[in-house]
Amino acid sequence: MRVFQNVEDLGDLRAALAEAAEVKKDRFQFQALGRNKTALLIFFNNSLRTRLSTQKAAMNLGMNVIVLDVNQGAWKLETERGVVMDGDKSEHLLEAIPVMGCYCDVIGVRSFATFENRKDDYEEKILNQFIRYSGRPVFFMESATVHPLQAFADLITIEEYKRKPRPKVVLSWAPHPKALPQAVPNSFAQWMNAADVDFVVTHPEGYELDPKFVGNARVEYDQMKAFEGADFIYAKNWSCPGVTRPEDYGKVLNKDMGWTVDAAHMAVTDNAYFMHCLPVRRNMIVTDDVIESPQSLVIPEAANREISATVVLKRMLESL
Ligand code: CP
Repeated sequence: MRVFQNVEDLGDLRAALAEAAEVKKDRFQFQALGRNKTALLIFFNNSLRTRLSTQKAAMNLGMNVIVLDVNQGAWKLETERGVVMDGDKSEHLLEAIPVMGCYCDVIGVRSFATFENRKDDYEEKILNQFIRYSGRPVFFMESATVHPLQAFADLITIEEYKRKPRPKVVLSWAPHPKALPQAVPNSFAQWMNAADVDFVVTHPEGYELDPKFVGNARVEYDQMKAFEGADFIYAKNWSCPGVTRPEDYGKVLNKDMGWTVDAAHMAVTDNAYFMHCLPVRRNMIVTDDVIESPQSLVIPEAANREISATVVLKRMLESL
């Protein structure tokens, strides 16, 4: 595997889930694969789970790990061609990327949406430059539009906890004070469409996800109706994706606290599990009692980030 961006990159999804279960039985069984190999993890944005779980995954596989926080200690990077670099940016991404590629065997990159330009964000301008110029396999650790390591971990978690062959899974928008990217809901929708689940998306009008991610999912604007009989509730905030009104891209259009997932919402489900990728703003996205309930899977989800990253790095090592 040379690129990990979309669910298709894993090939047969059932085989990938079986591999995840195998890795989870003994996460150190492939240590020889990573001997004398180096993973470079590049962060343009903050992280807790991705940073720790991906380092742990690389160590599980016997790899060396280098972590670079681009905005703390590295030269400030220019990303646009044609710019006269007379400002505070000392190095261009077009030199920095191949240099970084010299020191490693695989590269993971986190670079969020800037919300400056929908076209640039949705064309994955930064990550595609790493794919093109690094000469190394590249895996996305949350990009402008996708977070596949999270979605893979979410699917592993659903597989582990489902009580029926085809569970009802609901992706629900919830309020947040700041504008957040669409990467997590985009990937979650993409992966749920590929999985054997009854998938429903619910959000206020104006928050329609890009059709290439939401696919044929059922969209229900009445949140309570969407929750009825659900087996899994996946809550997440996202800013306006700009599908119906491009001028609203990245804006916060709604802060309706009626969308916060609380006990009344969970009461209409089929004793659903609650999921969220974390970090989560309590009593905005979800109430204390729901996230602390026995039905909350937020910690097992985070734990499965180590498993999804181990499978992805294993596949990349096998392709070297
Ligand atoms: N869920 C997730 O990616 O968490 P971090 O932003 O802390 O890495």
